[in-house]
Order: sequence, then structure tokens, then C-alpha cells
Amino acid sequence: MATDFGIDLGTQRTVIYSGKSIVLDELTAVSYETRTGELIAAGDDAYNMLGRTPASVTAVCPIKNGVIAEYDVAESMLSAFLNQVANNKMFKARVMVAVPSSITEMQKRSIYNACSSSGARDVCLIEGPVAAAIGIGLDFTTPKGSIIVDVGAGTTDIATLSMGGLVKYQSTNVAGSSFNNAIAKYIKREHSVIIGPHTAEQIKRQIGCVTQRPLELTITAKGQHQFTGMPQTFEINTNEMITALYDTAVSICKSVQSVIEKTPPEMTGDIYSDGITLIGGGSILYGFPEFLANYIGVKVTTVDNPKTCVAKGTAMALKNFDLLKNGDYRFKSLDELSMA
Ligand SMILES: Nc1ncnc2c1ncn2[C@@H]1O[C@H](COP(=O)(O)OP(=O)(O)OP(=O)(O)O)[C@@H](O)[C@H]1O
Ligand SMILES: [Mg+2]
Repeated sequence: MATDFGIDLGTQRTVIYSGKSIVLDELTAVSYETRTGELIAAGDDAYNMLGRTPASVTAVCPIKNGVIAEYDVAESMLSAFLNQVANNKMFKARVMVAVPSSITEMQKRSIYNACSSSGARDVCLIEGPVAAAIGIGLDFTTPKGSIIVDVGAGTTDIATLSMGGLVKYQSTNVAGSSFNNAIAKYIKREHSVIIGPHTAEQIKRQIGCVTQRPLELTITAKGQHQFTGMPQTFEINTNEMITALYDTAVSICKSVQSVIEKTPPEMTGDIYSDGITLIGGGSILYGFPEFLANYIGVKVTTVDNPKTCVAKGTAMALKNFDLLKNGDYRFKSLDELSMA
């Protein structure tokens, strides 16, 4: 059993790679007994309990905007995940965890602590865009500029890279969940119906788009009438999606533009010729790659594994630590972390 694990602890999904394979891909959620704090479930099972628990059970998503928001529960979720994949051999495990590029020292510390409390022997953090570059096989070790845009659920992480490291970067909270919020806001305004986050997510996946689809699609969804409080069915179509999602899409594009503007001019030239690499689950939103390409005026490339390439890159970095020689990366041991 391998004992090196590459982890992408995402706001919506946690993906763990070992060697060349995915060993865990679960929704980032945990449920526990409210009174005792005892773990009930971690991952998809806990996610299904969200918004449906009696008072005796609490179900939460412990990662918000790419960082730990509820430490104790995040730690017990991570322990459960790692025990599941490490087969009680955590004391031998080295883990590499991807984090947003603009993470604070405090936020880094809580991830180190959660990993070491889960029993990992050595822990190293890596910025998500660097891991992604490795995971998709982008050669970022030469003095040639490239840019990665990761539209996740809670964070959009944008970074320009060259010579094995980050040059300019920015993480913003406008990401996949913001599209859901925009859908809910639009439906309340235009249809007087209140919908929950799950319904918004389903509508986005079924008919969400930011450019015209070849065929207009209409679906029926359910919510609660804003004024009567009664269950209400309504129809919504793809043209309405374009209106609902426009501002959020523009906001992400503006952040990308601002990172490009801050990047040194020699590198900007490389970016204009090679284009933007777009990853993360948000890149699957219909029309978003074209929308971004039109807004910035450069080519946008998507990848086959947008939701798992960061975790894949962390596992590859563990195997080829040399790839990170130009950055300030090092493993911290359990002893070192417990002394700090
Ligand atoms: N078919 C789809 N259409 C539109 N959006 C989608 C689709 N599938 C997934 N998404 C969105 O992708 C996002 C999740 O992407 P991803 O798994 O990369 O996020 P994460 O890594 O968990 O979050 P973060 O990186 O912000 O911590 C969610 O907002 C989800 O709604
Ligand atoms: Mg992510």
C-alpha cells in the first residue's frame, strides 16, 4: 500500500491521489453527533444529510473558499479520508496538499495541523496553480510565461507562472458557488420563487450557460413562493441563464485581466501567444471558456480532467520533488509541527 498522498482539499470536492491513481473523490462534507462531536459520516454520505438533519446531528461543509473554516470538523473529516486510503499506515505517510495561492500563514498552519493530527508523517503545501501546471503537464520550468485560471466552487485562483514558480497571483471568492447564488437571486427576482443551493446547482448543471446554446432549453424546477411560502413550480430557460450569470462571469474575467495586467510585459507577450489554461469544475459551465477568451482577447484551453488535475499534480510533485526546486517548498515533520 502506497503511503504518499497528494490531496486537493476543495470547497466542494476532496480528491486524493496516490501514485498515478485517484484513491478518493468525495464531496467535502462531514456529519457528527451534535452533543458529543462524534463523527457520523465524511464525504458524499455526509453531504446528502446537509439541510436534512435533526437537532441531534450536525452536517457541514468545513472548507469555505478553499480554506478551513471549521477546524475540528475539517480535521476529523481529513482523518477519516486518510484512514480510509492509508489502511492504518498513516504514520508512514507523506502528504502534499494543494492550497489557494493567496492563503495566509494562519490558514496554512491550520492545514498543516489538520494533516499532522490525522497522523501524516511529513506534510508539504503547494499552491493549487503550481500543482495544476504539473498535473496537466504544462512546462512551467522555463523562462516562458503561462497562466492558469482555476474556477472552483468557492475560489477562483488565478496565477501566472514562469521558471518553476508563481509570478503574480490572486484568489477571489467569486467562483462556482457565485454562479449558483446568481441563479437563486435571478429566480427570486423574476419568478418570485426561493430556491435552495442544491436546486441552483442542479439548474446550473442542466441548463447553465454564459453564451447562446445552439438550441434553447427549458426545464421545470421547484421552489417556495416568495410571498405565500407554498411549494411552487416554475419554468426557466437558457436565455434567462445568460442574463442571470453575466455579471458573475464578467467579475471572474476582470480578476483574470487584473492578474495579467500586473504580470511583467515579457510574460504578457507569452500569455497572449499561448493563451490561458482554464481548469476547475467552473470551467465546465457552458460557454465560459469562450466568454473568457472574448473578454480577454486570447485563446483559452480547457483540460480533460478539470476537477482532478490539481490532486494529480500534488501526487506527481511528491514523486518528482525536483520539479519544485525553484520554489520554497519543504516537508514539515510531525515533530516539527508539534513543536511549533
Ligand atoms: N456541469 C457543470 N456546469 C457548471 N458548473 C459545474 C459543472 N460541474 C461542476 N460545476 C461546478 O464546479 C465547481 C466545483 O469545482 P471543483 O471541484 O474544481 O471545486 P473545488 O476544488 O471543490 O473548490 P475550490 O477550488 O473553490 O476549493 C462547483 O461550483 C460546481 O457547481
Ligand atoms: Mg479546487
